[in-house]
Amino acid sequence: MIILSIETSCDDTAIAIIEAKGGFKKPSFKVLSSLTHSQIELHAKWQGVVPSLAKREHSINLTPLLETSLQKAGLLKETKSKAPIPEELKTILEREPELLENLEILLPKIKTPKIDAIAVTYGPGLEPALWVGVSLAKALSICWKKPIIPVNHMEGHALSSLLESKSKVKSYKVIKFPAIALLVSGGHTELVLMKDWLKYKIIGSTRDDASGEAFDKVARIIGLTYPGGPQISKLAESFDPKNGTGIKFPRPMINSDDFDFSFSGLKTAVLYKAKELGQLTEELKKEIAYEFEQAVVDTLVSKTKKALIKFKAKSLILGGGVSANKKLRISTTEIVQKYFPETELLIPEISLSADNAGMIGVAGYFRSIKKKPVFSLSAIKKIKAEGNLLLK
Ligand code: KG4
Ligand code: ZN
Repeated sequence: MIILSIETSCDDTAIAIIEAKGGFKKPSFKVLSSLTHSQIELHAKWQGVVPSLAKREHSINLTPLLETSLQKAGLLKETKSKAPIPEELKTILEREPELLENLEILLPKIKTPKIDAIAVTYGPGLEPALWVGVSLAKALSICWKKPIIPVNHMEGHALSSLLESKSKVKSYKVIKFPAIALLVSGGHTELVLMKDWLKYKIIGSTRDDASGEAFDKVARIIGLTYPGGPQISKLAESFDPKNGTGIKFPRPMINSDDFDFSFSGLKTAVLYKAKELGQLTEELKKEIAYEFEQAVVDTLVSKTKKALIKFKAKSLILGGGVSANKKLRISTTEIVQKYFPETELLIPEISLSADNAGMIGVAGYFRSIKKKPVFSLSAIKKIKAEGNLLLK
């Protein structure tokens, strides 16, 4: 199956084309193309993602990204017929004028590509941003007569480790069930129990800030730019504990009887510490970054360990932007090696930890095996962006 996938849930515009086969027993994927246009620079000056700006950027950038993706995958074929786009598309793209304008130029020039389905993130995320991807999927589906597979963004993160980005490599990895997935991103922090393929039960989640959000907020407190995760991590790495002044932060809810998290108190503790210290030297910033990162990792790993024991998990899966964090990757690897040597550990490649469209294609593939993709025009029209979509 060749799947074209679209991801616009936040500030990354992404399109991928993957070839998938093997079903649930022997899934294997080949990335034909995977492109991401980051909007970080645009949002950095606002210290966070501005939904209306994200929507417009997606609307402008999707068409060039689509053209390049098709070309890289060897699926872009020009046509002389120059048939205008179906009238229907004008209604579907009413709220995305830039996207309509660009598609009106591109689509008449190219032949229907040899793909089997279009997978698209329909939630969770920023609704205005999600709508742009959903509208593009609908437009392409109608124009090319291809079915749509609506995908939950978090399911994409949960399955991202099955993919390998090198296009020539055929990957083949298995998830042994029951599995525990630790999904950590800018908007979510949850522990998920997977008893089987595509069966999700959230057993714990954050009661306030997501872990990535905490990284971003703490970064702002110590004067770093958005997104803060990678920068905190870099700063923490350069800290030498010998130079420490003894700064300690709490590990909220680490001993609670559930699988929930809380990061807002930790962020406030950093804020108070920074105020107390006044002028922050480079060395103090490093120490704060180090101790904060350690506090986040300690809590995440401690609850994950508890979940692995309670549910007798045969796999541990990491996913989401924060799973790019080196300390988290090392700590989870260590606990699995030490306490759960039989447990399969699946960590996505760093580039696939963050938002990307390849993972949406993977989730779309499995979804399409379980449930037929949406084909009829009336059903396509009913697909909606759902900002608060839950994983289940
Ligand atoms: O999954 P993602 O790309 O987007 C969402 O779905 O939210 O996650 C983005 C989050 C941001 O908060 C970012 O600061 C965090 O992931 N992040 C990291 C690292 N790289 C990205 N956090 C900690 N350490 C990192 N190396
Ligand atoms: Zn994400």
